[in-house]
Amino acid sequence: MKIAVFGGDGIGPEVTRQAVRVLETLDLPGLTLFEGDVGAVAYRRHGHPLPEETLAMAREADAVLFGAVGDPACDDLPREHRPEQAILGLRSELGLFANLRPATTFGGLENMSGLRPEIAREIDMLIVRELNGDVYFGEKGTHTRTDGQREGWDRMSYAEGEVRRIAHVAFAAARGRSGRLTSVDKANVLETSQLWRDVVCEVAVDYPDVELDHLYVDNAAMQMVRAPGQFDTIVTGNLFGDILSDQASMCVGSIGLLPSASLGERRTAHGTFGLYEPIHGSAPDIAGQGRANPLAAILSAAMLLRHSLGREDDARSVEKAVADTLADGLRGFDLGGDASTERLGDAVVGRLVG
Ligand code: IPM
Ligand code: MG
Repeated sequence: MKIAVFGGDGIGPEVTRQAVRVLETLDLPGLTLFEGDVGAVAYRRHGHPLPEETLAMAREADAVLFGAVGDPACDDLPREHRPEQAILGLRSELGLFANLRPATTFGGLENMSGLRPEIAREIDMLIVRELNGDVYFGEKGTHTRTDGQREGWDRMSYAEGEVRRIAHVAFAAARGRSGRLTSVDKANVLETSQLWRDVVCEVAVDYPDVELDHLYVDNAAMQMVRAPGQFDTIVTGNLFGDILSDQASMCVGSIGLLPSASLGERRTAHGTFGLYEPIHGSAPDIAGQGRANPLAAILSAAMLLRHSLGREDDARSVEKAVADTLADGLRGFDLGGDASTERLGDAVVGRLVG
């Protein structure tokens, strides 16, 4: 069991350290951890946000545990040297096209949501975000038009094969949950979305037991705050999934609680190769202060145990330890409490050993 650990920038290393502690607490046969540089840290040390040796380390591993990348000091660098290119590069180089972002309200946190508690309590959804295509990876550029104005452009596209493979992941996931799938697009305006919708409908034929519906992304964003309990599994493209998953995190109370798994097709000895990261970013404003919530990183480690190491029981133990920690009232700064990063890690580790 080889795990590459890339803490990255800002609060990334702090929260990842707690997730590593949790993994080390479990009795995992032959667990080996390697650390690599990504993001602004890597750019400063190696001149590139995703150095060759880091990428090679990821290819060697069964899974990658990832923190966060991003540093405002790098905002003026050419795009290929910006920290975000590390995560985008890993996702594309490793073929990680399926991003699973579960959002569930933890017992005891109903009052932390921006939504009314009786609405927040109902949230238990899985966002399946396509991660290798869309406007993220299309050609892009800026130029000066003949009228002298500068113009920026990014090409949005999906090939049917890209839609089909993520649709299969989403239908299978929905089947394992309550059997409902919502596909989110903007087919009333975008050709990319019309193709998306057509292909999702074609794939649906293979899953007659899954109830499929379609929502335009603007309506989906509205429904997510009006009545998020209506959603079970959502499948959507890269850009819409980025936006909706941040929104979902606030519906459950804090972005410091949402994990993610990014999966591709490569099989490992016990599961699927994947990259696991909290959905929050590097939060440079609170980096190094011990104020970051490590629970999203720890829950990401639980997803790693489940999907890449085939350790479902351990995954559940970690998830239960997190849920119990919250149910017992321990709160990080993101939830209005004062438990430090380390203290939250201690609480989860303590529940696993004791
Ligand atoms: C995410 C992040 C990334 C994305 C950034 C850091 C490139 O927001 O994982 O949601 O846009 O995908
Ligand atoms: Mg995002």
